[in-house]
Amino acid sequence: MSILKIDNLTVSYKNTDKDDKATSRKRIIENFNLDIASGELIVILGPSGCGKSTLLSAISGLIKPDCGSIEYNDVTLFNKDKRISVPAEKRNIGFVFQSYALWPHMTVYQNIELPLKAHRFSKAEAKSAIENILDIVHMKGYEGRYPDELSGGEKQRIALARSLVYQPSLLLLDEPLANLDANLKISLISEIKDIQKELGITTIYVTHDQQEAFEIADRIVIMNEGKIMQQGTPMGIYKHSDNLFVAEFVGKNNIFKAGDRCPRFLKQCQHHKAATIRPEDIEICNSGQHTAVVKHLTHRGDHIEYIVDTEGYELIIKASNEDEYKVGDNISFCIKRHHVIL
Ligand SMILES: Nc1ncnc2c1ncn2[C@@H]1O[C@H](COP(=O)(O)OP(=O)(O)OP(=O)(O)O)[C@@H](O)[C@H]1O
Ligand SMILES: [Mg+2]
Repeated sequence: MSILKIDNLTVSYKNTDKDDKATSRKRIIENFNLDIASGELIVILGPSGCGKSTLLSAISGLIKPDCGSIEYNDVTLFNKDKRISVPAEKRNIGFVFQSYALWPHMTVYQNIELPLKAHRFSKAEAKSAIENILDIVHMKGYEGRYPDELSGGEKQRIALARSLVYQPSLLLLDEPLANLDANLKISLISEIKDIQKELGITTIYVTHDQQEAFEIADRIVIMNEGKIMQQGTPMGIYKHSDNLFVAEFVGKNNIFKAGDRCPRFLKQCQHHKAATIRPEDIEICNSGQHTAVVKHLTHRGDHIEYIVDTEGYELIIKASNEDEYKVGDNISFCIKRHHVIL
């Protein structure tokens, strides 16, 4: 059962390009449809500028779409035809913005208290809610600090606490872990996921970081130029790209497009739009069916990534670091799995 239903949403901005007519508008989101189940954590993954933040702003009510509708739990938040547009402050949506947006002149406590005042919590209710949420984000004891006395990760946690403290029915996170180092990201990703599951709060998490998306998502929605290119479980998306954009955008892939001369190791691409082979689906072995020459190699910690030349094609191969080949070595390989895009 879907709890958030977005139908046919189109959002545009006034065109700011000097060459265009001042009255024209630039479409950012087009005929966008998305259903989200209660308690689900959806990741919207897409390149910079594809409209991810714009989508969140439209859901939260900060900007008004051109057409379409947004329903939450059978309540209409926006419907162009019915002329309904619930103001942002009445939507009960928690929002963590792309930048932390904590007030620098307020303490941690005062920052978190702010939305509670807007939601008319009493002083006592606020105190208990703040204590509870600081416990959940592991920031008890930081009440009196100012934002510039906190590390990046601590600020992110306070921003998260502030968005969760009044128990919103929907949580929107816009690149909440941007600007953090890799280790901190990994620990905060699992913390956010735990908190989200513990509170059972339906969440839309926006990022352009694939690793983050694959680690945290129940379901990933790949977006490009304001449209959904594919949606599915992280594994489903990784294993089966519906189209070339997704095949090229998600992870590393060897891609052979129709029209290219077809390599002997992949006859299938002649009859389809494209064929893809993941680097880990190629095996270097002594008696492989095909031969290649090592052009380049990169150590990636737990594995080695080779770029090899075969029949004039460059192939990326992910191989174990037990046997190391050198540039110029001849190897043989076989294809374990490939995927065709119709
Ligand atoms: N207020 C605005 N007025 C006009 N154009 C805007 C406005 N805000 C964003 N845009 C444009 O809309 C497009 C989508 O922007 P948006 O911020 O939604 O992208 P994004 O997917 O969140 O990108 P990023 O990953 O870089 O944050 C961009 O081309 C941007 O320049
Ligand atoms: Mg953005």
